[in-house]
Amino acid sequence: MPKKIFVTGGAGFIGSAFVRLVLEREPDTQIVNYDALTYAGNPKNLEGIDAARHAFVKGDICDRKAVLDALPNDADAIFNFAAESHVDRSIYSADEFLRTNIIGTQVLLDAAREKGVRRFVQVSTDEVMGTLPEESDAFFTEASPLQPNSPYAASKAAAEFVVRAARETHGVDTVVTRCGNNYGPRQFPEKLIPLMIANAVNDEPLPVYGDGKNVRDWIYVDDHCRGIWAAYERGASGEAYNLGSRNERQNIDVVTSILDALGKPHSLIKYVTDRLGHDRRYAIDATKAEQELGFRPEMSWENGLRATIDWYLNNREWVEEIRSGEYRNYYQKMYGSSLG
Ligand code: NAD
Ligand code: TYD
Repeated sequence: MPKKIFVTGGAGFIGSAFVRLVLEREPDTQIVNYDALTYAGNPKNLEGIDAARHAFVKGDICDRKAVLDALPNDADAIFNFAAESHVDRSIYSADEFLRTNIIGTQVLLDAAREKGVRRFVQVSTDEVMGTLPEESDAFFTEASPLQPNSPYAASKAAAEFVVRAARETHGVDTVVTRCGNNYGPRQFPEKLIPLMIANAVNDEPLPVYGDGKNVRDWIYVDDHCRGIWAAYERGASGEAYNLGSRNERQNIDVVTSILDALGKPHSLIKYVTDRLGHDRRYAIDATKAEQELGFRPEMSWENGLRATIDWYLNNREWVEEIRSGEYRNYYQKMYGSSLG
């Protein structure tokens, strides 16, 4: 019997990578991919995949009836990727973050219970744990308190709490994954790495917040997706697993690596006003996932960054279609300058 899974947000950056990976690696698995196609969802992210084992349904995770209609009766799992995901947008306006990330998660948990779905996998983030001191040996572990600092992180932390409540109250089988900053093909160019690649390619200024020394712990998107699958298959019910590849980098180093790889001058770097409430450092201790799930990231930073840059260079029309649309208004509002 083929296994059926319900993936939400599967037209976004990580969700679409997950769909590709599962279709490649799990020949007996069928996917219903449920996505509202917000500004961040893109049907082009799903081009070329095996249509025989993948059904796309356009819908909002907050729409109870639509979720119940789309969710197969015999689904083995829900993987909840659907979210508003960009910190800067949440600073500008938090409403949609609270609606999708919290209410939407609750609707999915209710639907899982009603349809008897075996396992619920919540794709969360290290950002729920707040920030770490800059120069220290401190890492986020599963025992770290949830201390979110941005409206985005607060909404994801709240989502973790509704997941926990569904398990404690109703016995829903849940697993939570908390990952660091992802990079790779098809990431919407509002995020650091694709934004800097696109601006550098177009000889436009690269806006670095504050002193550029904030640290993020970068992981290649496919490694994250392998970790999510491992948590689904081998994670203990009710547990959270931190996923990371021990790859801390200051933003300014990431930006200069991109410029160097593209042969562009460092003079394109423009220091701009810092993000409000800007978390200083994220760093993940993934020991639990390594020991309990056998989680092993495969991609090195050097190869991953090269593969990512190459993808954006080879898919200029994917980026330019976004950069020529509503994104221009976003950029003007957020950065106070227009794209060329
Ligand atoms: P993304 O913004 O690229 O994609 C989000 C997807 O969700 C889009 O396809 C969008 O259309 C869909 N969506 C949004 N609101 C929806 C709604 N109400 N109903 C149905 N679909 C909706 O995000 P991403 O970077 O791929 O992140 C995916 C998940 O991974 C999110 O839950 C995010 O919090 C989590 N995460 C992301 C990172 C990262 O570095 N990007 C790191 C850790 C965890
Ligand atoms: P981002 O990709 O938005 O991810 P997150 O905020 O979830 O970590 O940003 C990564 C880092 O890059 C973060 O420290 C903010 C910084 N940044 C800039 O300096 N300039 C930018 O234009 C953007 C989008 C981010």
